[in-house]
Amino acid sequence: MALELTIQKTQNPGHLPADESGLGFGHVFSDHMFTMDWSKDRGWHDARIIPFGNLQIHPASTVLHYGSEIFEGMKAYRNVKGEIVLFRPEENFKRMNRSAVRLGLPELPVDFVLDALKELVKLDADWVPHSEGSSLYVRPFTFGDDEHLGVHGVSHARFYIILSPSGNYYKEGINPVNIMIEDDDVRAVRGGTGEAKCGGNYGASIRAGNRAEEKGYTQVLWLDGVERKYVEEVGSMNIMFKINGKICTPALNGSILPGITRKSILEWLRSQGEEPEERRISVDELIEAAENGTLEEAWGCGTAAVVSPVGHLAYQGKVYEINKGQIGPTVHRLYDALTGIQWGKQEDKLGWIVKVL
Ligand code: PLP
Ligand code: COI
Repeated sequence: MALELTIQKTQNPGHLPADESGLGFGHVFSDHMFTMDWSKDRGWHDARIIPFGNLQIHPASTVLHYGSEIFEGMKAYRNVKGEIVLFRPEENFKRMNRSAVRLGLPELPVDFVLDALKELVKLDADWVPHSEGSSLYVRPFTFGDDEHLGVHGVSHARFYIILSPSGNYYKEGINPVNIMIEDDDVRAVRGGTGEAKCGGNYGASIRAGNRAEEKGYTQVLWLDGVERKYVEEVGSMNIMFKINGKICTPALNGSILPGITRKSILEWLRSQGEEPEERRISVDELIEAAENGTLEEAWGCGTAAVVSPVGHLAYQGKVYEINKGQIGPTVHRLYDALTGIQWGKQEDKLGWIVKVL
């Protein structure tokens, strides 16, 4: 049967805090959420927008024991023309379907969930922040919900979309973050779940993240899980460098999350006639470049983090300063290009913007 969307509006509407500067990331939630259920017999069904609220879940639910969970992250922006827009949302749902395949969870009907997301954002349009740099963070997630303890493929799952008006992900904002290269724990290996966006990857990253934070670093830079020799990505963003005048980023190798911001930056640079490199980058090459002054800039990129310069890199007890700990010209240029398109300040030449309202 074709999916139909029903809408139940909240009786207790809240509102966006008047002072948007205190939003932080992922603390405040809008009035409504979207959900639908899946079963092996019926497929996706009961698609509905309902008031935001707690979930009821069976204590034996698969997700609570075996981590059957995948998620996405994207943003709705209030642009300078007063429109509300999404940035490449189909890319997120397509990636979510690749994650679903890896985790044995059901794939989404992309066109339907994109329409449902637009309806949800329209309904909660007042929750899209107004201040520059803030946006409505969109968090879709699917989890397995079989109510027994056997480890099997799931036959029941649920999908939700929740919305969170948010400001900067890092307290540093667009100012440089300090990153520690992790050479003990690893995040992912080829054949594992590294290129899927699943909760388990993040759960396993917490210990290293805590250790870095205790030493005053914002996040860790992961190395490959086999040789611990090649740079992969940061806790919640992909990584890019400018070495000796050339922009480069680790090639997707099966254990790195294929970021949509990463892809967009590479596509934008190529549209400008530039030739960024996707290749293996060893930590030795990076440290040598930091030592001999050819590591001109480093930055992370991701939906939550946008473009985030790296001011200092720590590795094996030594700290390397990059671009005097300042925001560099490439980071400025990429930040302006990306946010220019997202906030409607620049023409969307590459067709990335989807208008909601
Ligand atoms: N790498 C990791 C581990 C992430 O959590 C994220 C954020 O989603 C990214 C990279 C960047 O991906 P995207 O640009 O699609 O947000
Ligand atoms: C995002 O950038 O959307 C993320 O999902 C990063 C993080 C908060 C896990």
